[in-house]
Amino acid sequence: KARSSFLIVANRLPVDRVVGADGAAAWRRSPGGLVTAIAPVMQRREGAWLGWHGAPGEEVKPFDHDGMHLVPVPLSAAEVELYYEGFSNATIWPLYHDVVATPIYSRVLWDAYRAVNDRFARAAAEVADENAVVWIQDYQLQLVPAMLRKLRPDLRIGFFLHIPFPPVELFWQLPWRREIVEGLLGADLVGFQRPGGAANFVRLCRRLLGLQHHRNEVELDGRRIRAEAFPISVDFSELDTLVREPSIVARAKEIRSELGEPEHMLLGVDRLDYTKGIGQRLKAFSELLADGAVKPGEAVFVQIATPSRERVEEYRRLRNSIELQVGRINGEHSQLGHQPVQYLHQSYNRRELAALYFAADVMVVTPLRDGMNLVAKEYIACRHDLRGSLVLSEFAGAADELKQAFSVNPYDVEGMKRAMLTAMRATPHELSRRMRSMRRRVATYNVDRWAGEFLAALEGG
Ligand code: UDP
Ligand code: G6P
Repeated sequence: KARSSFLIVANRLPVDRVVGADGAAAWRRSPGGLVTAIAPVMQRREGAWLGWHGAPGEEVKPFDHDGMHLVPVPLSAAEVELYYEGFSNATIWPLYHDVVATPIYSRVLWDAYRAVNDRFARAAAEVADENAVVWIQDYQLQLVPAMLRKLRPDLRIGFFLHIPFPPVELFWQLPWRREIVEGLLGADLVGFQRPGGAANFVRLCRRLLGLQHHRNEVELDGRRIRAEAFPISVDFSELDTLVREPSIVARAKEIRSELGEPEHMLLGVDRLDYTKGIGQRLKAFSELLADGAVKPGEAVFVQIATPSRERVEEYRRLRNSIELQVGRINGEHSQLGHQPVQYLHQSYNRRELAALYFAADVMVVTPLRDGMNLVAKEYIACRHDLRGSLVLSEFAGAADELKQAFSVNPYDVEGMKRAMLTAMRATPHELSRRMRSMRRRVATYNVDRWAGEFLAALEGG
């Protein structure tokens, strides 16, 4: 059996198995920022990626795809419901995002989470070579570090959390708080998006387990575990090259013309998730129309809302509320042949997204809480023309780095209206000053640097 000296372990593989209407199976890129960041890292390294392939109840053999070796971990339909939709996305996801939705605490979900984490740990233990480096990803697999260490004490184990790590006071709600922290402490290095997340974790280790700590290191059973921030990023040069292709430039022009050559094109690109503040930004935009600050016909807001976690109750509710809101805004402010909000409940590929980014005058990123938000960085990477404004929430991890964005508090509708107007009216000189500086940042702190720094700390520390 082939073993690997470098392993990524994530809930998802970079591709999802989908079965079409004709019964034929095909692979489609999985949604979300984790895959965007890990795929280029994996394409440049030898190793294996363990994860779920997206089809409940199906067994799939390891295979190679797009320069990566993928090892599927199966989940039953019940596990998808209890571990993935349940504990991962109805308990941990809302809890870690400042309880913007109410987390569900249920022992049945917890039991499934533990069982599936155990399966991932065993699968990793099988595939990892002697002294291999294993890099476990995200909130779905927080118990895997300790489970894997028990099975394979020879391994070097890293863990990276792609979403925020909450303050002690919030984390305390979790009935299984102790088990989760002990699970994470199985790693040698625990990475977070922001320094605040790492500090929350260290504080928690002290308060919950009474562990000694020296700055960002905690001690457990004679081992030292480091907690540190590594802000994730995008493949800057890939996007920068892609967006200069003549076909993408042409497509960007075509998009503007399909929209009726509006004076201002605003753009939102998100999974349809209640953490993203989609309703808040649409409310701000609709008030600008209602106040007359933006004339009908002058601006179009294109909102891409990629389907996500559709069987989870809170996501269904969100979809209904956003679609009702869009219908109302368009009902009130449309003219024949012009709709102010273009709402697309669809998923787009990188080429179409690059064209959209290049076409848009104002990129509106207003999450109520977000680990990083790669969409904001992708927009920056695509604007080599130094045009375009970024409106960015203070509650996104990206705000730490993108200081020249038009910063907003998504809970403050008036503030968002002002920022959107300012962004629409900024002079080209002002925009290029802001964009140049943000591009320098994203070009330097790109995804290779992120992975390189994490792995250097893991292997060297
Ligand atoms: N994305 C995509 N197609 C879409 C919408 C989004 O490929 O239709 C990608 C987007 O380019 C980005 C990722 O999904 O790379 C979203 O990452 P982000 O960090 O912004 O948010 P997440 O979805 O991980 O919460
Ligand atoms: C976020 C999470 C990822 C997740 C992605 C898409 O980026 O941090 O772990 O893969 O969203 O969500 P999904 O539930 O479809 O995997």
